Amino acid sequence: MTDEDSELMHGGIVNKDLAQLRLKPNLRGYDDLRKTFKWADADKLVEWFPNGKINSAYNVIDRHALGDNKDKVALIYDDGEGTVQKTTFEQLYRETNKFANVLVKLGVKRQDRVFVFLQRSTELYVSFLGAIKAGAIASPMFPAFGPDAIRDRLLDSSAVALVTDSELVKRAYQVKNQLPDLKHIIVVDKADTEAGEISYRAEMDAASDDFETVHMDPEEFQFMLYTSGTTGKPKGVVHAHKGIVQQTLTSRWVLDLHDEDIYWCTADLGWITGVVYGCLGPWSCGVTQVGLGGRFGPDRWYKSIQDHRISIWYTAPTAVRMLMAKGDDLPAKYDLTSLRVLYSVGEPLNPEGVTWALDVFANKPFHDTWWQTETGSILITNFPEMPIKPGSMGKPLPGIEAQIVDENGDVLPEGEEGSLVIRPSWPSMMRQIWKNEPKYNEYMRNGWYYTGDTAQIDKDGYFWYVGRADDVIKTSGERVGPFEVESALIEHEAVAEAGVIGKPDQLRGNIIKAFIVLTPGHTESDELKEDIRKFVKSRLAGHAYPREIDIVKSLPKTRSGKIMRRLLRAKELGLPIGDTSTLED
Ligand code: PRX
Repeated sequence: MTDEDSELMHGGIVNKDLAQLRLKPNLRGYDDLRKTFKWADADKLVEWFPNGKINSAYNVIDRHALGDNKDKVALIYDDGEGTVQKTTFEQLYRETNKFANVLVKLGVKRQDRVFVFLQRSTELYVSFLGAIKAGAIASPMFPAFGPDAIRDRLLDSSAVALVTDSELVKRAYQVKNQLPDLKHIIVVDKADTEAGEISYRAEMDAASDDFETVHMDPEEFQFMLYTSGTTGKPKGVVHAHKGIVQQTLTSRWVLDLHDEDIYWCTADLGWITGVVYGCLGPWSCGVTQVGLGGRFGPDRWYKSIQDHRISIWYTAPTAVRMLMAKGDDLPAKYDLTSLRVLYSVGEPLNPEGVTWALDVFANKPFHDTWWQTETGSILITNFPEMPIKPGSMGKPLPGIEAQIVDENGDVLPEGEEGSLVIRPSWPSMMRQIWKNEPKYNEYMRNGWYYTGDTAQIDKDGYFWYVGRADDVIKTSGERVGPFEVESALIEHEAVAEAGVIGKPDQLRGNIIKAFIVLTPGHTESDELKEDIRKFVKSRLAGHAYPREIDIVKSLPKTRSGKIMRRLLRAKELGLPIGDTSTLED
């Protein structure tokens, strides 16, 4: 697309004609707000109990159900197969009350860990929010996870309860004997539960729909989510109730949610985007959300926008690229005029994605947003009122100081590449890596929070993503740790050693690539590689398996035996191999 193709594109910049917007952006006057905004101003966006207590779920559900939004539809759940279920704020209030009562009856205590392992469904939202109401720490798990991933999370957090369905529970049973603290397995879709299982339906039917949402200290925890780093098992990123302040603020200022919006976040609740912007933030703003069941499909997605008259859409670059690859004729078959503002997150959004949207969605560009599981809400973004520089992540939220620094924490001049850091702290920042203070401390250096990303800032203050400073892999926007995949690989009898990297891929951002040394007696074959792939899929996760496998004679290692993934990556991509002084031989 050239500049002339769109009336909004000039000199490579997407300019906004604010007078033409259907609704005025909630955030106006960014430059002034950066100077004047105080976090205490945002505290007024949520309701507090006496003595400074709070509960995020009260703000997400109760305050609407007990006020003017009582009969407003909170959730339009479309299973993608013809059934659409609408739930009002009041219904969600009563259901979450019931679920909180179920947990209390089971003896679940304040700040106990309750895991929710469900496909997208009304029960997923009800159990997640019901657990938070009861004062528990709720933790959703991505439904693609296999037994190893489930064990790692439930074991590390000493989870006491698991809410799941009759299919997914089978994976939990494979590791249940390794989980001594797991007392309750609640199954949502079985009338006849087996010994040791609790029937969600029976308990919900018997439970009262009255519950007084537990008053929490703002620093007590509302949810935790496991995420991957370069080394070790996934780490439990813990978020406090206070986070709802910023989750609400960003839903207004960034996602620009207005009362009349119909909002759709395509992320699964097993990821931070799904938790914060597919549940907490938008409902805290009292907005109607759409949940679409089933898998990605261009037809189904466009149809969802058309059928539900979606106005605000938050998705991921891989999805945008997949839609682009399907061509422009397909969206032309649907009425997509309800769309108002579009957003993406999770990986770099190609400039072509921004401009393609201008063309296909009648002058609505994608707005890239940047944040992380650890940051708890959007920190850097393209705001609706601002011109977009396609390819840029935008500018920091008022209240957020973001910089590019060198190894000493010294701020680098504009245009120079370095570590992206944020000045602690902000209301939605993680409070803890679950029971792992050294891991938490690794993020904090020189008075900054190190994001693990590298980036640069241009002369106008726009941030540009460069890459990861570590070995974390983003594949289709999902975060995968190479160590977890390597650990799963070496459980296979044919694998002696494994090194895993992200390999750039046009569609998925990166794919997972494994280099493997075979155990004696095994020889390379396509069948063996396929068997290894299936093994990782079934043990670890359906999305975190190596699409490509190379069998090698040996792996580059440091003298202390650490696999040098940097060298594997350099060799794969034909890059300079850099310093090899620590190499084994
Ligand atoms: O590398 C950055 C990338 O995703 C990482 C965070 O992953 P996760 O915790 O799974 O959270 C993703 C959704 C909030 C970041 O360190 N990332 C996120 N947003 C962007 C991005 N990379 C480039 N551009 C973005 N907009």
